[in-house]
This record gives sequence, C-alpha cells and structure tokens, in this order.
Amino acid sequence: MTHEQRLGQVIGLNGNMVSVNVRGRVIQNEVAYVCQGAERLKAEVIRVRGKKAELQVFEDTAGIKVGDAVEFSGELLSVELGPGLLGQVYDGLQNPLPRLAQEHGFFLKRGVYLSALDDKSQWEFTPCVKKGDKVRSGSRLGSVPEKIFQHAIMAPFDLSGELEVVEVAAKGTYDLKAPVVKVRDAQGYVHAVTMKTIWPVKVPIKAYNKKLKPERPLVTKIRTIDTLMPVAIGGTFCTPGPFGAGKTVLQHLLSRHAEVDIVIIAACGERAGEVVEVLKTFPELVDPRTNKTLMERTIIICNTSSMPVAARESSVYTGVTIAEYYRQMGLNVFLLADSTSRWAQAMREMSGRLEEIPGDEAFPAYLETRIASFYERAGVVQLRDGTTGSVTIGGAVSPAGGNFEEPVTQATLKVVGAFHGLSRNRANARKYPAIDPLQSWSKYTSFISLEQSKKAAHILRRSEAVNQMMKVVGEEGTSLADFVDYLKGEFVDAVYLQQNAFDKVDEATNAQRQQHVFDVVVGVVDAKMQFTNKDEAREFFLGLRQQCINWNTTEFQSKDFKATQFAIEQQLKARLKAVDYA
Ligand SMILES: Nc1ncnc2c1ncn2[C@@H]1O[C@H](COP(=O)(O)OP(=O)(O)O)[C@@H](O)[C@H]1O
Ligand SMILES: [Mg+2]
Repeated sequence: MTHEQRLGQVIGLNGNMVSVNVRGRVIQNEVAYVCQGAERLKAEVIRVRGKKAELQVFEDTAGIKVGDAVEFSGELLSVELGPGLLGQVYDGLQNPLPRLAQEHGFFLKRGVYLSALDDKSQWEFTPCVKKGDKVRSGSRLGSVPEKIFQHAIMAPFDLSGELEVVEVAAKGTYDLKAPVVKVRDAQGYVHAVTMKTIWPVKVPIKAYNKKLKPERPLVTKIRTIDTLMPVAIGGTFCTPGPFGAGKTVLQHLLSRHAEVDIVIIAACGERAGEVVEVLKTFPELVDPRTNKTLMERTIIICNTSSMPVAARESSVYTGVTIAEYYRQMGLNVFLLADSTSRWAQAMREMSGRLEEIPGDEAFPAYLETRIASFYERAGVVQLRDGTTGSVTIGGAVSPAGGNFEEPVTQATLKVVGAFHGLSRNRANARKYPAIDPLQSWSKYTSFISLEQSKKAAHILRRSEAVNQMMKVVGEEGTSLADFVDYLKGEFVDAVYLQQNAFDKVDEATNAQRQQHVFDVVVGVVDAKMQFTNKDEAREFFLGLRQQCINWNTTEFQSKDFKATQFAIEQQLKARLKAVDYA
C-alpha cells in the first residue's frame, strides 16, 4: 500500500465525529490524524462504509473544516506497555498528565501527544531464559525491578505456537527500545523482544494457559462487602448509586485497602474537580502495607467531564489493557472504573451521530455486548509457568436519579458477580458505606461462614420488616419480641455494616478481625434476651451499640480491644442470665 492510499479528506463534521472520504483501504478502529494546519488531532475510525469512514476525534474539533487532510496510521488504538507504568497518571490516550503539564503548561494544548513511557529510561534487566529454550507467547523471559515489583519481560503476546529463544542479552542495563531477547516462531521468523510493547486496547491479552473460576475471596476490608456481598479475586462487581451516595469515596477506600498488588483507577470524572482531587490526594496517601506512597503500586487513568467524550471511552480500555498486562506477570490487579455511565454516555453520543437505530433510552443496541466484553476481561488466569494472575474489575454506575432500572445498570447487573447498590436513604442518614444490605447480592463466597452471614442477613430483613410495620401500627402496636428483632437488626447495621472512613482503625478491617468481631455480633443476634419493656430493650442496645462502636476504633487484640470485648460480653451475659432465671 502506498502512502498516497492512506490519506483522506474531511467531507463532513458533526460534533466530534468527522466523515472522511478515503483513498484506499481503511481498517475499523485504526487511528487517524485530522490535520488542522500544523496540528494533528488524534481520532479513531469507528465506521467504514465503502469510500467513506467515520472518525471520532479525541480532541476539541473547533476549526476543522471540509477539505482538511486526514492521515491513517494503520495502527489500532494502542497502549505502550513496559516498566515505568507504575505511579503514572495518564489521560485516556495514555498521555502522561504531569509531564504534559510540565512541558506544555497546565492548559493542555490540543494535538500534543507524549509517549507514555520514556524510551530512553534505563532498566536493570535479568534474563531467566537461555539460548535454545522453548517458550510460548507470554512466557517470562526475564525481569526488571520496578518499584516494589519484579516487572516481567515476556515473549510477545500475539505469537502462536512454540517459540525458540535464539538470542539473550547479558544481565545489564538497557533502555526500553533495546532488543533484550530474540525468539524464532514456528515459521522461522525471528522477533526481537524489547522491554516496551505496544498493544491494541480493544483486544484482550490472552497469552496464558487458561482462565480459572474466581473462587478465592478478595479481602477489601470493607466489612459489609466482605461479609455479606463478597468480591472474588478475578471477579467483577458494580456499584450503582445516585449522585453523592458515596461511590467515589468507596472506590478510593477499596483502592487503598483491598489486598491486591496493583490498583488501576480509570476515572471518567463526573465533575472536573473530582479528578483534580484524585490527583492531589493519591500521591499523599500512604500504602498501609508498604508504608510507601500508594502511587508506588497505582496507575491512574483520568478524564474529566470537560474532555471530549471519546477520550472517556478510551480510558476504560486503556485501564483494562494495562491491568491485563500486569496480570500476565502473576500479579493481582484491581481495576476500578468511575463511572462507567460516563463511558456509556460517550457510546450513546457517538451512536447518535452515526444515526444508528437507538435502543432503550437512546443507548445503542450494542451497549450490552460492549459492557459484557469489558467485564469479561476480568478473571483469574493460569500463566505459562503454572502460576496465576488476576484482574478484578469494579465499576461505579451513576444512573440518573438513582434509578437502577435504566439500561446501563441493567446491562451491568447481567454480567457482574456482585452488586453493591448504594442507597440514597442510607447516604442521607449518613450510614456509610451506603451499600443497601437488603438489595445487594454476590455470587461469590466469603471467608465468613455462610451459616453465620445468613443469620445477619436474616435479622436485617426481619428488622426492616418490623420497621415498616411500625410505621403503620406505631411502636405501641408492636410486640416486644418484634421490637427486639428490630433493635438487633439496627445493632448489626450500626456496629458492623457501618464503618467510619475517617477513623484510622475502623476504616479497614482485615479478615481475621472481621471473623472475630462478626462472631460477637452474631452472638448478640442469637442471644435470647428478656426485657420487661421496650424502653429497657432500647436502653440496653443503645449502650451495647456505643460500646461496640468504640470497640471498632481500638487496635485489634490490643489491651483496650480485649478489655472492651470483655465488657461487651459481660453486658450480654447479664442480660442472658435474666432469661435463665425467668
Ligand atoms: N464512607 C464515607 N464516610 C463518610 N462520608 C462519606 C462516605 N462516603 C461518602 N461520603 C460523603 O458523601 C460525599 C459524596 O460522596 P461521593 O463518593 O463523591 O459520591 P458519588 O461518587 O456517589 O457521587 C462525600 O464527599 C462525603 O462527604
Ligand atoms: Mg463520584
């Protein structure tokens, strides 16, 4: 194909969609540049029809006019993968934001793209294969230290069959473009492996033996999640909730405390200020596990609502591709997308411009398949060397008015393994995290026994039923036994489900502590107590509740912790005795 054939001309413009007349063949999803004077604006081919192609431009399209030249790159929208990704803050097109700001001022100029990784950066490579070794795509060839991890350098992901190692560089320092290993494929072609790889974002990386069922619980340290609606390592979940219910705060808690190796945050901001906040706070957060900054094992992909919609779409793909890359190294990666509704809106906008037949609420008919194929990229995989790696995906959804019946929430619920629905009522009552325990569910298993958690779930439902009844018949019309059930449910909610994000102990509860505390809480639920009247019962639970909330803020197994537990148990015992003598 000659260079001439890879050009086109703008023939129409609609928002950030550009119609182009093309000479030669154009590939669906390839990257093209609209030439606007000296500026080259990045775009992606989203539809090809004969000699006409539709492009979505990832930039402000002001000034583009009919007749402007378009260059086709022949490459699919891709990301750069290699050592140096950790700790970076990228936009949806993988432009490093701090460097962009440094080199081009805070107001990003359009048409400026920086390479995601610094090709000249030097890394200490240690090979783990030798000449003559047989490997496969994704096999580990060597490694370089990257922050707190050993970053694997792997055989190219897109080669099939057996590969033979024909050349290996000596242990030493190399830049990202230096060939460190050469492999020969079954057809006899030799491929040079550099530490940096380019990979198309919409194609899942599948250079592993097989996908496994996600079975191990992911400890998030959020009690209500881990105990009642757990997430599995390599599983998926979604967090729908109305505006202001606490989705973003919850995701930040998860990113800090969940027991994973690497966290990737794909922030398609609801508000512009929100993303700036992420950028400001994250570098200051200390990783509770390493005592270093959390950014050492975090990558942030962010787009504000002021960036063009298309860039928002690309950020979820960029995020998940980087997540798959680190999974290939045997690490557990956690991808948090906030909010996937912004991504869906981008799809809707583009679909409208393409004049496609709209589905429910004007979302395109392919909304469901796009959402499904995004979450399908999560999973535990068995790698070439038999070890495993995982990508767990959690997506926030922000349905208008908090109505979960809308298409994005519904499409997401069909594919995820756990549902953490945030409730407006709980948020208004400042019951955080505002996850509704009655509405939420999970298909995964917890480290808490099912028998125990069922007891809690049962009393919560009972309590709510009594509460509803009381609204009709009043407290007087409620039996003492029902009233006690109501108080027990309120107790479980207040001391176990609710968690204070601003208390340095209570904000995160590890598995061992959850098991320990939950036993005590279920003990209260199980206890047969006797009260002479409702006021006495209320009084008792009020006292117990306050003690347990204090207990939550003491260091696990400290002197204080043990003393408080003793006091709680004494109180409970006294109440039980009353039953014995009755
Ligand atoms: N776990 C929490 N503890 C205390 N306050 C919270 C918590 N979650 C949310 N909030 C309060 O609610 C506000 C909105 O939360 P946010 O996560 O931004 O909502 P959303 O992302 O759902 O729009 C926060 O600024 C904070 O004041
Ligand atoms: Mg938010």
